[in-house]
Amino acid sequence: MTLGGEWWREAVIYQIYPRSFADADGDGIGDLPGALARIDHLADLGVDAVWFSPFMRSPQHDAGYDVADYRDIDPLFGTLADFDAFLAAAHERGIRIIVDLVPNHSSVEHVWFQEALAAPPGSAERERYLFRDGRGDDGELPPNNWESEFGGSAWERVTEPDGTPGQWYLHLFDSSQPDFNWRNPEVRDEFTSILRFWLDRGVDGFRVDVAHGLIKKEGLADHEKPVNAGPMGSRDELSPYRGQPEVHDIFREWHHVLASYDGDRVLCAEAWLSTADKTALWVRRDEMHQAFNFGYLMAGWDPQSLRDVIAESLRAYPAVGAPATWVLSNHDVIRHTARLMLPPGQDDGIGPRSPYLPEYEPGLRRARAATTIMLALPGSAYLYQGEELGLPEVVDISDDAREDPTFVRTQGERYGRDGCRVPIPWERGAPASGFNTTGESWLPQPEGWGDHARDVEIADPRSTLHLYRRLLRERRERRLGRSVLVWIDDVGDDVLAFHTHDVTVFANFGAQPFPLPTGQVIAASGPVVDGHLPTDTAVWLDTGGVPIGPETGGVPIVRDDVEDLIRKYGSEDVPSD
Ligand code: NOJ
Repeated sequence: MTLGGEWWREAVIYQIYPRSFADADGDGIGDLPGALARIDHLADLGVDAVWFSPFMRSPQHDAGYDVADYRDIDPLFGTLADFDAFLAAAHERGIRIIVDLVPNHSSVEHVWFQEALAAPPGSAERERYLFRDGRGDDGELPPNNWESEFGGSAWERVTEPDGTPGQWYLHLFDSSQPDFNWRNPEVRDEFTSILRFWLDRGVDGFRVDVAHGLIKKEGLADHEKPVNAGPMGSRDELSPYRGQPEVHDIFREWHHVLASYDGDRVLCAEAWLSTADKTALWVRRDEMHQAFNFGYLMAGWDPQSLRDVIAESLRAYPAVGAPATWVLSNHDVIRHTARLMLPPGQDDGIGPRSPYLPEYEPGLRRARAATTIMLALPGSAYLYQGEELGLPEVVDISDDAREDPTFVRTQGERYGRDGCRVPIPWERGAPASGFNTTGESWLPQPEGWGDHARDVEIADPRSTLHLYRRLLRERRERRLGRSVLVWIDDVGDDVLAFHTHDVTVFANFGAQPFPLPTGQVIAASGPVVDGHLPTDTAVWLDTGGVPIGPETGGVPIVRDDVEDLIRKYGSEDVPSD
């Protein structure tokens, strides 16, 4: 079943990280023909859309987030014809396609940056980026104290065409990723044209990289708190390059571009901001359609924090007419099979020297429970390739095999993101576990990787893959993405419980088994033992169409509440009584 109008309000969107998904040409880096050959896996899984991390032309200094040509596919991944073929095959299967747009910065190999390097200070070519004179007697110091998200200064000095040391350019990420000057109308026009290029090809939307960073505060003054920490930097309030008010204008312009196309095309913001209320300002009716809910991702394995962030999200996003979104893993964070076991603060990659390394089985247990909670929530959910296989974070990657610029720029102090990017295992015992036929792999696959392969999991009804398939099917059939959520109180501090439509969800975070009410089990992250929900387990129970009421511990939903609920939660599809 393909979702209809405003599909993105309830869609489950699967992230393909193309380098690591499937590799048809055997060079050790995944590609579009490889992804096409595996497309039926996505249809079988039951996702509504695919978001592709970048596959545009790029020297790959940040795994494709350094784009040299926004209108072409990098030969590593294939050709525009390969992309068109994937898109057509996905659409035939009712799967929509979202591409990654990287507007904050280009690659140093982008023709505009090359022109800027060849042109003098003050030229129109340099005005497309953020070039400034340095401080100090000879301009030998960076123009301000901003730090790169990947470590070190956010400025790099250039050598002028006459061979003398010259100006500096800003790069919030790697020095191979110069930031555009979004106050320059030429940059804005160029990106509108890039949007049209992909919309004309038929894409259903864009995930917008570093949407929080496009505009920098006028003057580029020193930052009071320059130090970055955490997977995508600090989310501090004072940042002169996060969530500046002028970004909204850009998103409004883009919104209108998308609205001028048929179908429901969507913009999703990657915006690391401090609260849901702030992030919600980016998804007002005439701006983006969705924003990633990083507050949810960062909430950890704690019932109170989760309840708070779910409640806050279901208030803040619908209040501006947008759906809440949910995400537990992506290509920038430690896979949730490991992250949910970590003490707070240890979230910037793990490796052999990390002080605490989680065990896999207890981590998997939590991850399965976390997903069981997430996929019941109203709104739209994002999945990251491999989480449906319960993949572990790969810890044991040798220093010389690591590729994340974070690792290099911090001299190994921050392991960064390679551990969640290891190529996917498809078949146990095959070369590179079925990632390709040559056995090559751009990041080494660890021992035992094939035990998580798709063919192993499809044969085992208790596997994580089967859990995901079941949750996705039930979520879709019951339209849980369009539902309302009603909390169940009085279940103790260790249990999270809520109703959504005809499903009642319980999740037990405590050591003691929790006695469940009677009800048919629709899906469970682990076995329910004698009517009791064990620790770190979540379950969906069918309440059999019974109206939600005080007898089940919930707030009764009566007709008079409906209008109010719609206003509150933005749903048109509330449970009937
Ligand atoms: C966010 C992307 O998700 C990340 O992978 C990338 O390194 C930075 N933005 C810079 O583009």
